[in-house]
Amino acid sequence: MNATTNQPVRLGVNIDHVATLRQVRGTEYPSPLEAALVCENAGADGITVHLREDRRHIQDADVYALRERLRIPLNLEMACAPEILGIALDVKPTEVCLVPERREELTTEGGLDVKGRREAVFETVQTLQAAGIVVSLFVEADPDQLTLSAESGATYIELHTGHFCDLDGAAAQAELARLIRGAELAHELGLKVNAGHGINLNNIGAIMQIPHLDTLNIGHSIVARAVMIGMSAAVEEMRTAIQAGPQND
Ligand code: PXP
Repeated sequence: MNATTNQPVRLGVNIDHVATLRQVRGTEYPSPLEAALVCENAGADGITVHLREDRRHIQDADVYALRERLRIPLNLEMACAPEILGIALDVKPTEVCLVPERREELTTEGGLDVKGRREAVFETVQTLQAAGIVVSLFVEADPDQLTLSAESGATYIELHTGHFCDLDGAAAQAELARLIRGAELAHELGLKVNAGHGINLNNIGAIMQIPHLDTLNIGHSIVARAVMIGMSAAVEEMRTAIQAGPQND
Protein backbone atom coordinates (compact mmCIF):
# COMPACT_ATOMS: atom_id res chain seq x y z
CA MET A 1 0.00 0.00 0.00
CA ASN A 2 1.07 3.55 -0.70
CA ALA A 3 2.34 5.07 2.58
CA THR A 4 0.07 8.10 2.13
CA THR A 5 -3.01 7.12 0.14
CA ASN A 6 -3.51 3.43 1.00
CA GLN A 7 -3.68 2.73 -2.74
CA PRO A 8 -1.77 -0.35 -3.89
CA VAL A 9 1.67 0.50 -5.28
CA ARG A 10 2.04 -0.89 -8.79
CA LEU A 11 4.91 -3.11 -9.90
CA GLY A 12 6.60 -2.52 -13.24
CA VAL A 13 8.95 -5.39 -14.06
CA ASN A 14 12.09 -4.48 -15.98
CA ILE A 15 13.05 -7.46 -18.17
CA ASP A 16 16.30 -6.06 -19.66
CA HIS A 17 18.39 -8.79 -18.09
CA VAL A 18 16.39 -11.57 -19.68
CA ALA A 19 17.69 -10.04 -22.93
CA THR A 20 21.19 -9.82 -21.40
CA LEU A 21 21.20 -13.62 -20.97
CA ARG A 22 20.18 -14.04 -24.60
CA GLN A 23 22.69 -11.53 -25.97
CA VAL A 24 25.71 -13.05 -24.17
CA ARG A 25 25.28 -16.26 -26.20
CA GLY A 26 23.65 -14.93 -29.37
CA THR A 27 20.83 -17.46 -28.96
CA GLU A 28 17.13 -16.89 -29.54
CA TYR A 29 16.37 -17.69 -25.89
CA PRO A 30 15.47 -16.62 -23.28
CA SER A 31 12.81 -14.51 -24.95
CA PRO A 32 12.03 -11.16 -23.29
CA LEU A 33 8.53 -11.38 -24.77
CA GLU A 34 7.91 -14.79 -23.21
CA ALA A 35 9.25 -13.49 -19.89
CA ALA A 36 7.02 -10.43 -20.13
CA LEU A 37 3.96 -12.60 -20.70
CA VAL A 38 4.87 -14.70 -17.63
CA CYS A 39 5.19 -11.45 -15.62
CA GLU A 40 1.82 -10.29 -16.94
CA ASN A 41 0.19 -13.59 -15.88
CA ALA A 42 1.89 -13.36 -12.48
CA GLY A 43 0.29 -9.97 -11.78
CA ALA A 44 2.86 -7.41 -12.94
CA ASP A 45 1.18 -4.07 -13.57
CA GLY A 46 3.55 -3.08 -16.36
CA ILE A 47 6.67 -4.08 -18.25
CA THR A 48 9.72 -1.86 -18.55
CA VAL A 49 12.56 -2.15 -21.06
CA HIS A 50 15.52 0.10 -21.75
CA LEU A 51 16.41 0.37 -25.42
CA ARG A 52 20.00 1.47 -25.03
CA GLU A 53 21.88 3.18 -27.84
CA ASP A 54 24.47 0.36 -27.79
CA ARG A 55 21.68 -2.31 -27.86
CA ARG A 56 23.52 -4.34 -25.22
CA HIS A 57 20.36 -6.16 -24.14
CA ILE A 58 16.93 -5.16 -25.50
CA GLN A 59 16.76 -4.98 -29.32
CA ASP A 60 14.39 -2.93 -31.48
CA ALA A 61 12.41 -6.07 -32.44
CA ASP A 62 11.80 -6.84 -28.74
CA VAL A 63 10.16 -3.46 -28.23
CA TYR A 64 7.87 -3.91 -31.25
CA ALA A 65 6.92 -7.46 -30.17
CA LEU A 66 6.13 -6.31 -26.63
CA ARG A 67 4.00 -3.46 -27.92
CA GLU A 68 2.07 -5.88 -30.08
CA ARG A 69 1.45 -8.60 -27.49
CA LEU A 70 1.27 -7.04 -24.03
CA ARG A 71 -2.07 -6.24 -22.43
CA ILE A 72 -0.44 -4.34 -19.55
CA PRO A 73 1.33 -1.00 -20.14
CA LEU A 74 4.78 -0.91 -21.75
CA ASN A 75 7.22 1.61 -20.28
CA LEU A 76 10.17 2.34 -22.56
CA GLU A 77 13.28 3.76 -20.91
CA MET A 78 15.42 5.79 -23.28
CA ALA A 79 18.02 8.52 -23.53
CA CYS A 80 17.15 11.88 -25.12
CA ALA A 81 18.68 10.69 -28.41
CA PRO A 82 17.14 11.41 -31.83
CA GLU A 83 17.50 7.82 -33.12
CA ILE A 84 15.74 6.28 -30.11
CA LEU A 85 13.14 9.03 -30.09
CA GLY A 86 12.25 8.07 -33.67
CA ILE A 87 11.71 4.46 -32.58
CA ALA A 88 9.62 5.54 -29.57
CA LEU A 89 7.39 7.65 -31.82
CA ASP A 90 6.93 4.68 -34.14
CA VAL A 91 6.31 2.09 -31.38
CA LYS A 92 4.16 4.39 -29.24
CA PRO A 93 4.65 2.67 -25.86
CA THR A 94 2.20 3.63 -23.14
CA GLU A 95 4.93 5.49 -21.32
CA VAL A 96 8.50 6.67 -21.89
CA CYS A 97 10.92 7.20 -19.03
CA LEU A 98 13.79 9.49 -20.02
CA VAL A 99 17.08 8.40 -18.48
CA PRO A 100 20.69 9.55 -18.78
CA GLU A 101 22.90 7.11 -20.65
CA ARG A 102 26.64 6.67 -20.79
CA ARG A 103 28.06 3.89 -22.92
CA GLU A 104 30.68 2.76 -20.42
CA GLU A 105 28.28 2.46 -17.47
CA LEU A 106 27.19 -0.94 -16.12
CA THR A 107 23.68 0.36 -15.51
CA THR A 108 21.99 3.76 -15.32
CA GLU A 109 24.19 5.48 -12.76
CA GLY A 110 22.65 8.83 -11.93
CA GLY A 111 19.47 10.76 -12.51
CA LEU A 112 18.70 12.77 -15.62
CA ASP A 113 20.24 16.26 -15.50
CA VAL A 114 17.08 18.18 -16.37
CA LYS A 115 18.85 21.40 -15.36
CA GLY A 116 21.95 20.87 -17.48
CA ARG A 117 20.07 19.47 -20.50
CA ARG A 118 16.98 21.61 -20.13
CA GLU A 119 16.41 22.33 -23.82
CA ALA A 120 16.84 18.72 -25.02
CA VAL A 121 14.73 17.32 -22.18
CA PHE A 122 11.89 19.83 -22.54
CA GLU A 123 11.78 19.33 -26.31
CA THR A 124 11.75 15.52 -26.00
CA VAL A 125 8.98 15.65 -23.37
CA GLN A 126 6.86 17.83 -25.65
CA THR A 127 7.44 15.67 -28.73
CA LEU A 128 6.51 12.48 -26.89
CA GLN A 129 3.45 13.99 -25.25
CA ALA A 130 2.24 15.39 -28.57
CA ALA A 131 2.31 11.76 -29.79
CA GLY A 132 0.09 10.70 -26.87
CA ILE A 133 2.88 9.04 -24.87
CA VAL A 134 2.96 9.57 -21.09
CA VAL A 135 6.38 10.85 -19.99
CA SER A 136 8.38 10.17 -16.85
CA LEU A 137 11.78 11.64 -15.93
CA PHE A 138 14.26 9.51 -13.97
CA VAL A 139 15.75 11.99 -11.50
CA GLU A 140 17.55 12.32 -8.21
CA ALA A 141 15.51 13.58 -5.27
CA ASP A 142 16.97 17.04 -5.78
CA PRO A 143 14.66 20.08 -5.43
CA ASP A 144 16.02 21.84 -8.56
CA GLN A 145 15.69 18.74 -10.73
CA LEU A 146 12.17 18.12 -9.42
CA THR A 147 11.06 21.70 -9.97
CA LEU A 148 12.36 21.67 -13.54
CA SER A 149 10.78 18.26 -14.13
CA ALA A 150 7.41 19.79 -13.25
CA GLU A 151 8.12 22.76 -15.54
CA SER A 152 8.89 20.39 -18.41
CA GLY A 153 5.27 19.22 -18.34
CA ALA A 154 6.17 15.57 -17.66
CA THR A 155 3.45 13.60 -15.86
CA TYR A 156 5.73 11.46 -13.69
CA ILE A 157 9.12 11.53 -12.13
CA GLU A 158 10.85 8.28 -11.22
CA LEU A 159 13.02 8.77 -8.13
CA HIS A 160 16.46 7.17 -8.42
CA THR A 161 16.64 4.75 -5.48
CA GLY A 162 20.01 3.27 -6.52
CA HIS A 163 22.15 5.25 -4.08
CA PHE A 164 19.90 4.37 -1.15
CA CYS A 165 20.06 0.69 -2.08
CA ASP A 166 23.88 0.79 -2.10
CA LEU A 167 24.19 2.44 1.34
CA ASP A 168 24.03 1.16 4.93
CA GLY A 169 23.35 2.61 8.36
CA ALA A 170 23.14 6.36 8.87
CA ALA A 171 24.04 7.15 5.26
CA ALA A 172 21.15 4.97 4.07
CA GLN A 173 18.77 6.66 6.51
CA ALA A 174 19.86 10.10 5.27
CA GLU A 175 19.32 9.07 1.64
CA LEU A 176 15.92 7.59 2.47
CA ALA A 177 14.96 10.86 4.15
CA ARG A 178 16.04 12.70 0.97
CA LEU A 179 13.88 10.36 -1.15
CA ILE A 180 10.90 10.96 1.16
CA ARG A 181 11.34 14.76 0.94
CA GLY A 182 11.75 14.45 -2.84
CA ALA A 183 8.51 12.46 -3.17
CA GLU A 184 6.67 15.04 -1.04
CA LEU A 185 7.98 17.93 -3.14
CA ALA A 186 7.21 16.14 -6.43
CA HIS A 187 3.65 15.52 -5.21
CA GLU A 188 3.25 19.18 -4.21
CA LEU A 189 4.46 20.18 -7.68
CA GLY A 190 1.70 18.07 -9.23
CA LEU A 191 3.97 15.26 -10.41
CA LYS A 192 3.11 11.59 -10.05
CA VAL A 193 5.81 9.62 -8.25
CA ASN A 194 7.46 6.40 -9.38
CA ALA A 195 10.72 4.99 -8.04
CA GLY A 196 13.28 2.45 -9.13
CA HIS A 197 16.80 1.10 -9.30
CA GLY A 198 18.50 -1.41 -7.04
CA ILE A 199 15.31 -2.47 -5.25
CA ASN A 200 15.32 -6.03 -3.87
CA LEU A 201 13.60 -8.14 -1.24
CA ASN A 202 15.93 -6.81 1.48
CA ASN A 203 15.28 -3.12 0.92
CA ILE A 204 11.67 -3.10 -0.33
CA GLY A 205 10.28 -2.51 3.18
CA ALA A 206 12.30 0.68 3.54
CA ILE A 207 11.47 1.80 -0.01
CA MET A 208 7.79 1.45 0.87
CA GLN A 209 8.23 4.29 3.37
CA ILE A 210 8.45 6.70 0.42
CA PRO A 211 5.11 8.53 0.19
CA HIS A 212 2.90 9.06 -2.88
CA LEU A 213 4.31 6.06 -4.73
CA ASP A 214 2.48 5.09 -7.90
CA THR A 215 4.79 2.46 -9.44
CA LEU A 216 8.05 0.75 -8.48
CA ASN A 217 10.16 -0.37 -11.44
CA ILE A 218 12.22 -3.41 -10.46
CA GLY A 219 14.40 -5.52 -12.73
CA HIS A 220 17.71 -7.06 -11.79
CA SER A 221 16.67 -8.56 -8.45
CA ILE A 222 13.54 -10.16 -9.91
CA VAL A 223 15.42 -11.72 -12.82
CA ALA A 224 18.17 -12.90 -10.43
CA ARG A 225 15.59 -14.41 -8.08
CA ALA A 226 13.77 -16.07 -10.99
CA VAL A 227 17.02 -17.88 -11.87
CA MET A 228 17.21 -19.30 -8.33
CA ILE A 229 13.55 -20.18 -8.00
CA GLY A 230 13.55 -21.80 -11.43
CA MET A 231 16.86 -23.68 -11.17
CA SER A 232 15.59 -27.00 -9.79
CA ALA A 233 12.80 -27.20 -12.40
CA ALA A 234 15.33 -26.50 -15.18
CA VAL A 235 17.68 -29.23 -13.89
CA GLU A 236 14.79 -31.70 -13.64
CA GLU A 237 13.74 -30.94 -17.22
CA MET A 238 17.24 -31.64 -18.51
CA ARG A 239 17.60 -34.84 -16.45
CA THR A 240 14.32 -36.05 -17.93
CA ALA A 241 15.54 -35.26 -21.48
CA ILE A 242 18.81 -37.16 -20.86
CA GLN A 243 16.92 -40.12 -19.43
CA ALA A 244 14.70 -40.18 -22.53
CA GLY A 245 17.84 -41.16 -24.49
CA PRO A 246 18.51 -40.65 -28.22
CA GLN A 247 15.76 -38.95 -30.24
CA ASN A 248 15.54 -38.07 -33.90
CA ASP A 249 14.95 -34.33 -33.78
N1 PXP B 1 14.31 2.42 -13.34
C1 PXP B 1 15.21 2.91 -14.21
C2 PXP B 1 15.00 4.29 -14.75
C3 PXP B 1 16.32 2.15 -14.63
O1 PXP B 1 17.21 2.67 -15.50
C4 PXP B 1 16.44 0.83 -14.14
C5 PXP B 1 17.58 -0.03 -14.62
O2 PXP B 1 17.44 -0.24 -15.99
C6 PXP B 1 15.47 0.35 -13.25
C7 PXP B 1 14.43 1.17 -12.84
C8 PXP B 1 15.54 -1.03 -12.68
O3 PXP B 1 16.66 -1.15 -11.88
P1 PXP B 1 17.09 -2.57 -11.31
O4 PXP B 1 17.39 -3.44 -12.50
O5 PXP B 1 18.28 -2.28 -10.47
O6 PXP B 1 15.92 -3.09 -10.54
